[in-house]
Amino acid sequence: MSTGSTAQTPAESSGPERGTRWHRPAGIVRAYQSEPWSTRAHTLVRWASIPMDAVEQELPDSGEVLEIGCGHGLFSLTAALASHDRRVIGTDIDGAKLVEARRAAQAAGLNQERLEFQQVEADWRPPSDHLYDAVVIIDVLYLLGISAALNLVAAAARAVKPGGRLLVKEMDTTLRAKAAWCSTQELISTKLTRVTEGETVQLVPLDALRAVMQEADLEVTTQALDRGYVHPHALLIGQRR
Ligand SMILES: C[S@@+](CC[C@H](N)C(=O)[O-])C[C@H]1O[C@@H](n2cnc3c(N)ncnc32)[C@H](O)[C@@H]1O
Repeated sequence: MSTGSTAQTPAESSGPERGTRWHRPAGIVRAYQSEPWSTRAHTLVRWASIPMDAVEQELPDSGEVLEIGCGHGLFSLTAALASHDRRVIGTDIDGAKLVEARRAAQAAGLNQERLEFQQVEADWRPPSDHLYDAVVIIDVLYLLGISAALNLVAAAARAVKPGGRLLVKEMDTTLRAKAAWCSTQELISTKLTRVTEGETVQLVPLDALRAVMQEADLEVTTQALDRGYVHPHALLIGQRR
């Protein structure tokens, strides 16, 4: 969705050329610039390798956005910086990442009213008595195992307000070469470097995710976002009527 009434952050005055994958909004650069080099490098590479801005454009311009598995908060910050009319809540199981995410939010000038981070347990699900304008899950499900992943998506779908949407950015397992590369890289992140906490690395078929979203009465469309990327990015958009 367009960000009509919103506050796009001004372009960086120096650094990578606008329009290249490495170019980030100035607010995002500012947010992480005082973090340890490993976090600066990690968030830079994630920005360049994932179409964060394409996902952000599918959010409603205003309202309450829940991101499940927000990591260092890169997408949550992107969503909050792109529109003054959004309130964003990011959750993750990794407390150390959230410490950095909170500092980054502060450095970007976002107070708790605009962006809040909460540490949760691995089996946490959105509460059934609170609905969101949007729920977002980016590259989390492959860490959970298929059954827990589908259970989380079902709970996320139930947490979407009428008129709201669930955005799930995962990998398209039917693009086999790209999916194989992705699994190898994620095994390195979880088992070797331990940048990412997770039980397993198991890509969840998009068909299974779509079915769970449809069962929760969402109208589901799929956007291929892999063009120009080595990863088989795909975005499922579940719209509640
Ligand atoms: C690959 S990172 C993606 C982070 C962020 N969504 C992004 O796109 O930059 C996966 C994140 O999922 C988190 N995670 C793993 N299992 C989780 C669970 N059961 N509930 C919430 N977060 C979880 C990890 O701690 C990690 O920060």
